[in-house]
Amino acid sequence: MGIKDIGLVIQPQQEEIFHEHLYAYAEKKNLRLHYIPQHEQKGIAHAVAQAEDFLGSDSFVLLLGDNLIDDSLQKLKDSFQQTSAHGTVLVTKVSKPQDYGIADIKDNMIVRVEEKPVKPKSNLAVIGAYIFKSSIFNAIHSITPSARGEYEITDAIQWMIDHQYDINYVKTTKPTFDVGTIDRWLKANQWMLKQHGSSTDAEFLDEKPNNNVIIPPVVIGDNCTIEDSVIGPYVSIEANTIIKKSIVRNSIILKGCHIENMPYEITDSILGERTKLFGKYMNDNTIQVVFGDESKFFLSSDKESKDKGSE
Ligand code: G1P
Repeated sequence: MGIKDIGLVIQPQQEEIFHEHLYAYAEKKNLRLHYIPQHEQKGIAHAVAQAEDFLGSDSFVLLLGDNLIDDSLQKLKDSFQQTSAHGTVLVTKVSKPQDYGIADIKDNMIVRVEEKPVKPKSNLAVIGAYIFKSSIFNAIHSITPSARGEYEITDAIQWMIDHQYDINYVKTTKPTFDVGTIDRWLKANQWMLKQHGSSTDAEFLDEKPNNNVIIPPVVIGDNCTIEDSVIGPYVSIEANTIIKKSIVRNSIILKGCHIENMPYEITDSILGERTKLFGKYMNDNTIQVVFGDESKFFLSSDKESKDKGSE
């Protein structure tokens, strides 16, 4: 799209993670990355406000970091440039409109947006790609926090509409995922692995058979040790992880985890960085756990408790 400068609004302590994952890519593509700290997490509009000095009076693309969109944004850019709209948003049909900002449309324009409506007027969700003129900052500085305590980008868009700044939209029918819940993150992982999984599998199988059964698609990061285990399908394992004598299916295992001798199959699970799961100390009555903030742990596969967990 001709964009060379990318501002990443992040919690200050996350800079290292982004640097590690993006620096080489940005260099190769000749992109300049600018880290913009957001010291308090007060919503998307608040995040955009942190970038005001960086953006100046330029129009800009806003992408939500937890949205995966399998479509080019060229149509969004074209539509924005061909009209006098102050904002163009990407929309898509969703099955659970209560989870999204929902658009009410008329004559190619958005006439109303509502954040996570209890009674949605449509199933057209505003998904995480937007283009705005700098006039959006008038809106951002005027809105107040929502019921969930956030400065909502939806409220900023509604402020624009109410003050006669046109907002139009482009519809995508390609896959999109908001990975903001466990279930949706796992679904996005499945989808990504279906698209890109195979090459890493073959490489891994050749190099480290180690008495494993690997059921593709699976992605295994650098410097992992996997022995006597069944992995897959739909498992993503980040670097420096050790898995021994365990079964892992449909899961996301972040960096530096260690899973050993697990008597239960690990399925539909997400393990944060450096999580340790050791089965060998277990007997019938006790487990020892060290979980990070907001961890969830299900011994049963019963549907009701899982659904609760994914909220
Ligand atoms: C945010 C926006 C919402 C949008 C969604 C897309 O919701 O507030 O309008 O539809 O992203 O993923 P959140 O992820 O903050 O709940």
